Amino acid sequence: MVHRLDIRERPRRNRKSAAIRDAVRESLVGPEHFIYPLFVHEGDDTIPIASMPGCSRHSEAGLMVEVERAYAVGIRMIALFPALDDSLKDEKGTESHNPSGLIPRVVGALKERWPDIMVVTDVALDPYSSDGHDGIVDKHGRILNDETVDVLCQQALCQAEAGADIIAPSDMMDGRVGAIRDALDDEGYTEVSILAYSAKYASAFYGPFRDALESAPKSGDKKTYQMDPANAREALREVSLDEDEGADMIMVKPAGPYLDIISLVRANTELPVAAYQVSGEYAMLKAAAERGWLDEKKVVLESLTAIRRAGADIVLSYYARQVGEWLA
Ligand code: PBG
Repeated sequence: MVHRLDIRERPRRNRKSAAIRDAVRESLVGPEHFIYPLFVHEGDDTIPIASMPGCSRHSEAGLMVEVERAYAVGIRMIALFPALDDSLKDEKGTESHNPSGLIPRVVGALKERWPDIMVVTDVALDPYSSDGHDGIVDKHGRILNDETVDVLCQQALCQAEAGADIIAPSDMMDGRVGAIRDALDDEGYTEVSILAYSAKYASAFYGPFRDALESAPKSGDKKTYQMDPANAREALREVSLDEDEGADMIMVKPAGPYLDIISLVRANTELPVAAYQVSGEYAMLKAAAERGWLDEKKVVLESLTAIRRAGADIVLSYYARQVGEWLA
């Protein structure tokens, strides 16, 4: 005879069938939760990114094909990142606010074809800067905050003019959210949203992204503007400043290694919270899956569920389209 434990509480009863588990599940992952980041360049060919298998630098036509596939499985938000030829880069990132530049053209084409897609554009100088920094660099190697914010405002206006729905400053300069909000409002773009990269850490997990865009800093690192990975309270300071300056949504980046920050931010803001599962997180999952060491579908869905459980309303992920297909 097996001795019956003298316990009344048996949590396993709530896990005894798929029907019960489905009914009591606390966090869901669906295509509506994603922003799909995509890379675009001027060329006619689509170039695979070695350190991000399954991701490419798309031509304008190739991008349309990829967005169509994503749209078909329910993805309705995309974020664009440009890869530019060195000849278009300069110290002040002038190309960032060229109205006939790559991003404004692509935004126009996307909005014309899919008016219901929310197009998110990145505000930062790194893809346009000959120094590979998010801001303007002086001759001593310092990043000039206020001079940079001036250019970022022009970049944001140029994107709004092209039809962007959500402007996402990823540069981490001080005061840029308020300055961009004022610039947009002054020109009548009161409906354009700001998704602020508020708690963006100086992370080595961005490596593959910088390969993809050939946008790594030529010298130095990004530690004078991106946050120290050791800090949590400082994230709340960044979040409350961006809230006061008019952000509509707050972002934490990276996501997986920073679940505590997502959870902390979720508990301290009323705004929607987004989290960015960055290129290095994607690359790790892909590499292990390619070797057969992990079950790709299961670990990806688990990692995205964890990001949602931590408190992210919105997840930026290079897996967005693939997840849409898995769940379809
Ligand atoms: C730069 C920017 C970066 C990413 C998004 N915007 C790289 C960086 O800050 O160096 C990283 C995204 C990723 O790794 O997936 N403004």
